[in-house]
Amino acid sequence: MQGGFSVTDLLSLFSASIFAAALVAPANAQDLPIGETLYQQYCATCHGMSGEGDGPLGEVISVPIPDLTQISARNDGAFPMLKVIHVIDGRTGLRGHGGPMPVYGAIFTRDAVAARDPIGAAIEARGRVMSLAEYLITLQK
Ligand code: HEC
Repeated sequence: MQGGFSVTDLLSLFSASIFAAALVAPANAQDLPIGETLYQQYCATCHGMSGEGDGPLGEVISVPIPDLTQISARNDGAFPMLKVIHVIDGRTGLRGHGGPMPVYGAIFTRDAVAARDPIGAAIEARGRVMSLAEYLITLQK
């Protein structure tokens, strides 16, 4: 077949591109910028760019804004991943109703690119909450 690709050509192209993708994008490095971007967009207004609770909205909110760089320190040195995920998601009842912090699980589901596909929207919302929680791990002091 002139000018065509053989199956072997296609396979080697395919594996070469997987290999290249693996080289440029280790799993974690891919997730962290997403968490950081989401954090700056949704959380820094209250918790501050550095996470220390010094965002501009803190002055108008009557409740103290927690320092997110001290989550592990407040939990005997262990980052309480599941609790943090629940707090960010906000739909699970671990957080008291009527608190000032928005319920991001609902916001992310509503704003999901895949909004017309309920399963896609749920996955997208959870992915965002997860990326945020992973980003918070990197802020721990
Ligand atoms: C409107 C202000 C506000 C915004 C915006 C906000 N938070 Fe909060 N956050 C709070 C307040 C106040 C608390 C403590 C009381 C509560 O749980 O409601 C809190 C608590 C938390 C806690 C629990 C800390 C601990 O040690 O128990 C985490 C984790 C957290 N926020 C993460 C986030 C993330 C991630 C975002 C962005 C997606 C965000 N917050 C956006 C105000 C805010």
